[in-house]
Amino acid sequence: MGCNVAVLVSGSGTNLQAILDAERARKLDAVVRLVISNKADAYGLQRARKAGVRALHVSTKTEGSFDGVAKKMLQLFAEEQIDLIVLAGYLKLIHPEVVRKYSRRIVNIHPALLPKFGGKGMYGLKVHEAVLAANEKVSGVSVHFVDEVYDRGPVVAQRTVPVFAGDSPEDLQARVLVVEHRILPETISALACGQIPLGK
Ligand code: GRF
Repeated sequence: MGCNVAVLVSGSGTNLQAILDAERARKLDAVVRLVISNKADAYGLQRARKAGVRALHVSTKTEGSFDGVAKKMLQLFAEEQIDLIVLAGYLKLIHPEVVRKYSRRIVNIHPALLPKFGGKGMYGLKVHEAVLAANEKVSGVSVHFVDEVYDRGPVVAQRTVPVFAGDSPEDLQARVLVVEHRILPETISALACGQIPLGK
């Protein structure tokens, strides 16, 4: 028996797709019950609908305010009896009230080895550009618990990815993404299976 998962996305949602594919292949010890995006046209919403998962646009545009977004999210999480919230390319900060209510039940995936190369504004190609500019020989993927500060909460799982001479940011991004697509379903299953304590 898995737990109920909500996935939050802002963009194309290839990580969401990896989770949905793992679920379909019965390799996920969890059920994706809900997908939320702050963008009405995020492709991730279409991916969810194709898989028959409830998918909603929730943003300050639809709810009027940051507080309104939190209220709507909490209502949806309660309706779907969500145990674990996965941020898979979600670019907005999670409201402190949601973080408090779901303490140690929200994880984020970040395409570098945190605590390096994280923080506000560090997303997409900018992360990989920074890794290359710092001449790192190794990058990677981090899945971490979410708190009120971008990319700061404790790391749950981490995997390294080599950086090769002559890599462009796009090359590194592509190599890292392959690992993201593996680590995220695995970590969700591990959390759902209780291999990694969820805390309180
Ligand atoms: C990924 O690189 C993830 O680590 C970061 O945002 C990107 C989302 O990609 N947080 P996708 O939307 O899952 O394709």
